Amino acid sequence: MPPTPLSKQERESLLDAARQALKRAYAPYSNFHVGAAVLTDGGQVFSGCNVENASYGLTICAERSAIFTAVRQTADKKLAIRAVAVVNGNNVPCSPCGACRQVIFEFGEDAIVIFQGQQGYLEMPIQQLLPESFRLS
Ligand code: THU
Repeated sequence: MPPTPLSKQERESLLDAARQALKRAYAPYSNFHVGAAVLTDGGQVFSGCNVENASYGLTICAERSAIFTAVRQTADKKLAIRAVAVVNGNNVPCSPCGACRQVIFEFGEDAIVIFQGQQGYLEMPIQQLLPESFRLS
């Protein structure tokens, strides 16, 4: 099913939730603070921030942090993501990394991803950001 476009209000409140999460980012190594928020098919919003570590590779991105929280909070059925918004503290272009794209796809094959591009925020379906995503079977 093609994604249902977000209303202006849904988009703004999702970006707001991401901005709130951005304040909690723990990024003393890169100083690049990121916040993300997930909107589920059921209308719930979950957010996350990047959390870095002295052992750099253990860092988790804001997008996966938000999605993993959403999984934890979703009872009975599989999490279904309608949209994900990503913001950063440097106000620079920042699209989700490849790993996060794969994780978004797992829970929302038609998810809309909102992120900062070269000229303002862009809205793009995950399948455009990650063609030929990996799936088992
Ligand atoms: N980061 C995110 O949290 N999300 C992105 O979409 C891009 C990168 C984080 C990981 C790391 O803490 C910092 O940004 C610099 O790469």
